[in-house]
Amino acid sequence: MKKTRVTAGALALLTGLVLPAAGDDSAAPVREYPPGSVTLEEGLANWQTFYEVASHPRCSNCHVGPSNVPMWSGPSYGKTRPHGMNINADESRIGAEALICSTCHTTLSEPDENANRTPHSAPRVASIWGLAPVEAEWFGKSSNYVCNQLKDPQRNGNRTIGEVASHVDHDLVLNWAWNPGGNREPAPHSLALAIDALMKWSAAGTPCPPEE
Ligand code: HEC
Ligand code: HEC
Repeated sequence: MKKTRVTAGALALLTGLVLPAAGDDSAAPVREYPPGSVTLEEGLANWQTFYEVASHPRCSNCHVGPSNVPMWSGPSYGKTRPHGMNINADESRIGAEALICSTCHTTLSEPDENANRTPHSAPRVASIWGLAPVEAEWFGKSSNYVCNQLKDPQRNGNRTIGEVASHVDHDLVLNWAWNPGGNREPAPHSLALAIDALMKWSAAGTPCPPEE
């Protein structure tokens, strides 16, 4: 049977929802560093900073692989386990084929930092809730793996590192990760530091640590 692929973008068109524009330059500018102005050693240290963010449950629970199953992991979940209630995001990555994520993770009309105060309720943000593209699989992956994924245009949405950094800056989901509410542990560092780490890593020539 032929499956229809429904992406979050197509869904936004159908429902008339406005997604944050990738190229919107109204948010804080991403600071560029000239190529070579950051040493290899500093570049690796900055990658480590970004990896600490990327591998944190507030990020990696949505950055899962081809199982299409979101994760419940991190201190607020006790034992690491797949999302309860047999949830599967399917190929659309937003559950469009069976039970769409936004049934519970309802889309806010505007960002609201008090929206997620109640522990154990489904997190809500002002964009469509769903899994990251399957190519951006981070859950349980090593620093070396994520490092190589992030700089590979074939797997990062055909973006330069500058574009990856401004994507992190503009995505409303990511702003939630540092203010998740409901007694959840926020992602480490800060949005500003994560972006700066990416740009310094880029200026050092995107070095990756060896596979452990
Ligand atoms: C039937 C309601 C329901 C549906 C449908 C649902 N979720 Fe959830 N989801 C929840 C609840 C409730 C929580 C919070 C559980 C807790 O904190 O104990 C949650 C939490 C999560 C988390 C963990 C966030 C964190 O704190 O790190 C992720 C990731 C997630 N959902 C992804 C999805 C995706 C992707 C879909 C669609 C495929 C989806 N959910 C569909 C109810 C739902
Ligand atoms: C609610 C689920 C969810 C959470 C939580 C989440 N992401 Fe994502 N992420 C997505 C989706 C959906 C996309 C695809 C959106 C797009 O490309 O426009 C994406 C794409 C990305 C991308 C670009 C694709 C690539 O190559 O990886 C980056 C970078 C990224 N996310 C970083 C993060 C970071 C850092 C965090 C934590 C601070 C995070 N994400 C948390 C859903 C999530």
